[in-house]
Amino acid sequence: RRNFIKLAGASGMLAGLPATAFAEQKTFSDGFLWGVASSASQVESRQGRGRSNWDDFADQKGRILDGSTNAVNTAFETHYAEDFAMLAAAGVNAFRFSFAWPRIQPDGPGKPNEAGMALYDRIIDEMLSRGMKPAATMCHWDMPTWAGDLRDRDITQRLADYADILTRRFGDRIGLWLALNEPNTVAAAGYALGIHAPGLASMQATGAAVHHQNLAQGLMIAAARANLPKDARVSTTINCQSARPATDSPEDAQAAEMAEAFWNGAWLDPLFGRDYPEKVRALVEPFVKAGDMENIAARPDCLGVNYYARVYAQAAAGSPLGFMPLVDHFPNKLIPTQMLPVEPDGLTEILLRIHTEYGAPDIYVTETGFPLEDPQPVDWVVQDPKRSTYLRSYLQAAHQAVDQGVKLRGVFYWAATDNWEWAMGFTKTFGLIQVDRATQKRTPKASLAYYAKCIKMNGVA
Ligand code: NOJ
Repeated sequence: RRNFIKLAGASGMLAGLPATAFAEQKTFSDGFLWGVASSASQVESRQGRGRSNWDDFADQKGRILDGSTNAVNTAFETHYAEDFAMLAAAGVNAFRFSFAWPRIQPDGPGKPNEAGMALYDRIIDEMLSRGMKPAATMCHWDMPTWAGDLRDRDITQRLADYADILTRRFGDRIGLWLALNEPNTVAAAGYALGIHAPGLASMQATGAAVHHQNLAQGLMIAAARANLPKDARVSTTINCQSARPATDSPEDAQAAEMAEAFWNGAWLDPLFGRDYPEKVRALVEPFVKAGDMENIAARPDCLGVNYYARVYAQAAAGSPLGFMPLVDHFPNKLIPTQMLPVEPDGLTEILLRIHTEYGAPDIYVTETGFPLEDPQPVDWVVQDPKRSTYLRSYLQAAHQAVDQGVKLRGVFYWAATDNWEWAMGFTKTFGLIQVDRATQKRTPKASLAYYAKCIKMNGVA
């Protein structure tokens, strides 16, 4: 197995380059986290947990592109040790995972399910024994069916209680905590466009989903801080992407302003102590109560940023979002992947913006990655040279931001393994490790060997 790094390197772009060739290159900060990411609902099976909103959604006919469900996924709960061994061999020193809320509280609020808690004890301990620092997302989209959905304000307190349970039990071993994952995607895809759970498409539901997730984040961060040691970092992960108009038309220019407010400002502004951007105020206003903005303003000591590409906005009368994001036919001759274009300079741009606009917080890129069609393995390796090329361009872009002062503390490649891509089912493959769905056999990709080179030099190979 260890040989794969040699094998992949020998046929890839890095053959023959001695480590000293990079001695002059700039590197990332000391203690930089070279991580990979995953989420419960995309890798764990349903075994041993309660039902979730995504189970309900996936089991409805026609919701998932390839007709698949999240019932088995990569059976992470029985294969994690294999995944960790392969990643540790590549030098990966951090692993972002999420707790499945329906595994911790399967049937209702209150006392947690001990079998579920014990599973995460084992996962975390295995990770640590492999030299990987755990970074935990408390809730990565999957919510127990009993908890209802984000239209209900009560869910914010349920999430805070859940954060309390997690940080009491696991706080001694996890240094980086993220309350939610991409609440902006949840509000847009799940409540405005109806293409993710719970499949709603209403302006009112969207406003509630925005405000209640912001409030939940604030309450979760406060609950976590009360339990965690002083040196633990508690934050949340936002999908941050600058918006641009899809065309030169004045209508699309307006749509881009709306997209900017909805996508970035509606989350970052209140989190860092400001009011909602003016453009989203009417949307959230019916849900804001006295004291909420203070609770939302957690002023986290770091920020989780997921970045893939910019948002291209077009005008769309009647859309609950006030714009429609392009999902294909991207402008600027951008390189397409299976989903989004490759846009490294957008990463530099957004990191610099966050740095200058929000008081220079420490930043972790908690996700970035490339869904590409991969070949079958040959000699125990999947050759995916494009993924390494794209990853290099993103790491270079991140480094350019660091050169200009951005306090980047780590990067987590999405994803550790190929997995279930929500409404896209198994049609999109992002992983550094391929998973055979029939046998659950794991095979490393050459891009994992490329990542290993970067990790070794703590820079961009
Ligand atoms: C966003 C989400 O956090 C993750 O769950 C998803 O699979 C990736 N980005 C890719 O779309």
